[in-house]
Amino acid sequence: MEHTEPERLYDFREDWAKQYQESARTKIPGYETLFRIADCLLCRELPDSADVLVVGGGGGEELCSIGRDKNWHMLVIDPSGPMCEGARGRAASIGIADRCEVVEGYVSDLPLGRMHDAATCLLVMHFLPREGQAALLSDLHRRLKPGAPVAMAHLVRNARESENAWMADFWRDFLIRAGVDAEAVEQQRLAREREVTMLTEDEFRHLCADAGFDVLARVSQALHFTQWMLRRRE
Ligand SMILES: C[S@@+](CC[C@H](N)C(=O)[O-])C[C@H]1O[C@@H](n2cnc3c(N)ncnc32)[C@H](O)[C@@H]1O
Repeated sequence: MEHTEPERLYDFREDWAKQYQESARTKIPGYETLFRIADCLLCRELPDSADVLVVGGGGGEELCSIGRDKNWHMLVIDPSGPMCEGARGRAASIGIADRCEVVEGYVSDLPLGRMHDAATCLLVMHFLPREGQAALLSDLHRRLKPGAPVAMAHLVRNARESENAWMADFWRDFLIRAGVDAEAVEQQRLAREREVTMLTEDEFRHLCADAGFDVLARVSQALHFTQWMLRRRE
């Protein structure tokens, strides 16, 4: 019998990629703050010249908001062609294309010889299943210098299931109050169930430890969007 997969909502193809920036600003509480925090997390660690790996940096928000006053080389790696195009276009529009490199693909595709000084991984991890998250952390570990800082943010579930149920209702109401129509909110909820893997804080901390990262701090949280500062072990 023919089996058809339901179409993915979060596929970051053409149509999604085009409206991603506007949609993220409406739907993700503190979206811009995530980047301001990531900027500060890395600026207080890195010299004026550094090589920063931007995992899942399609769309270009990291390029436009992290290390803008630095001379960092930014390497974006993202499997979505349209999101990569968005990043290239935004880097060019603000005049930093010469220090930005945008590669369509996965961290595992990057050469092992090139060790980066730092990395960001913002709003990516939850789109991968648990094994994918573990593999991404391990691929990242192998491409970072010992001691390299990593600014990370993604969806994390509460340890208490009753809180998650309450948060799901609150999240729906937050989106509706932000002007998203009820049908789209419901589609998003269903897509989250199918396409998103929210680990608990403990589960995430275990993955980090197994992959060779120390969690220095949980820096912020809005709804389930949680930001972290990690360091690759020496
Ligand atoms: C929600 S967007 C976030 C984009 C950007 N970091 C931001 O916050 O504006 C998620 C991005 O992760 C990318 N992505 C999905 N799986 C990935 C993977 N295994 N490695 C790197 N990037 C991935 C998607 O293509 C998409 O561009």
